[in-house]
Amino acid sequence: MLSVAIGSDHAGYPLKEKIKEFLLSKGYKLLDFGTQSTTSTDYPLFAREVCLSLQRGEAQRGILVCGTGVGMCITANKFKGIRAALCLNEYMARMSRKHNDANVLCLGERVVGVDLALSIVEVWFSTDFEGGRHEKRVKFIKDIEAMI
Ligand code: RB5
Repeated sequence: MLSVAIGSDHAGYPLKEKIKEFLLSKGYKLLDFGTQSTTSTDYPLFAREVCLSLQRGEAQRGILVCGTGVGMCITANKFKGIRAALCLNEYMARMSRKHNDANVLCLGERVVGVDLALSIVEVWFSTDFEGGRHEKRVKFIKDIEAMI
């Protein structure tokens, strides 16, 4: 079973807790990097901890939640080896796995409701990378990453 690193800021905290419950009920191992309340804080702190955890190999996937998901996604994609996708619906979740081999899912608590968010999470975890022609494209991303 995959290990999942999860983090949020204050705006994503309640949804993070719901996602944790959901993933634990499915048997995933969770590493929670905070935040642990709705007290105002800064999303890059938590994106960094989740991404470093993936880089260390402790977790294979990450989930980041903030108000829109945008700040988390921008931050996460600064880290080598991270392919973070902001998903607003199940289609984006499916395609981000099939075509982009996304390893971090970003969600916006102020944008999607809890039921939709959990459905996005379910699809994202149950969809495999398709490989084939998409392998080459993901390799392009890795080549670009190696240049910077
Ligand atoms: C916090 O107010 C908000 O800016 C943050 O959660 C996120 O939406 C940033 O992208």
